Amino acid sequence: MNVQLRVYVPDHPLIKHWLGVARDVNTPCVLFKTAMTELGRWLTYEATRYWLPTLETTIETPLAESPATLINPQVPIAVIPILRAGLALLDGAQTLLPLASTYHLGLVRDEETLEVSCYLNKLPPKFEPQTHIIILEPMLATGGSIMIAMEEITKRGGDPALMRIISVVAAPPALQKLSQDYPNLNIYTAIIDEGINSKGYIVPGLGDAGDRAFGT
Ligand code: URA
Repeated sequence: MNVQLRVYVPDHPLIKHWLGVARDVNTPCVLFKTAMTELGRWLTYEATRYWLPTLETTIETPLAESPATLINPQVPIAVIPILRAGLALLDGAQTLLPLASTYHLGLVRDEETLEVSCYLNKLPPKFEPQTHIIILEPMLATGGSIMIAMEEITKRGGDPALMRIISVVAAPPALQKLSQDYPNLNIYTAIIDEGINSKGYIVPGLGDAGDRAFGT
């Protein structure tokens, strides 16, 4: 079977609006954080369609018995924000997935060499089979961080076919790397930009997402 990486750019006015706000250099830090929260919410909403495990059951309304479709509580759901910038998407994702476990993964990029190293790893030793995983990484640029994250997650049993990556701006280098190694991944992003500059920033992008979200 020929499997291909799927990159979805949902055509939703709220996603377009908050992307425009986030991209604007004149947007102050507090509004930038709001924009990222909203993007986290609406992109997670789109990404969980046809993906959240449900079960068919019967409930009692005040008047009668009725069939109902509920989220299956037996299937574990994990949200993995890639720190720092992924934290900015977390509030929005958590409002939709309040029962999901959150596992923080801290990755930092050397500004000179663009090498990525891991400074915090709160992933479990092993993900339970069938765990549905959402990865929050707003900027898919060179692919350095997301490839390390994918390696850490898959070596603990995470199944790429059950994952959704939520990004805000994606660029071709990261998408190419992901497509080569994880062809059955699904990515949800607000936009795909043209490319990256010599410092590894996406152009036109939105600048440094972590700095802008946290004002540092
Ligand atoms: N990380 C960011 O925060 N911005 C970019 O443009 C690329 C990586």
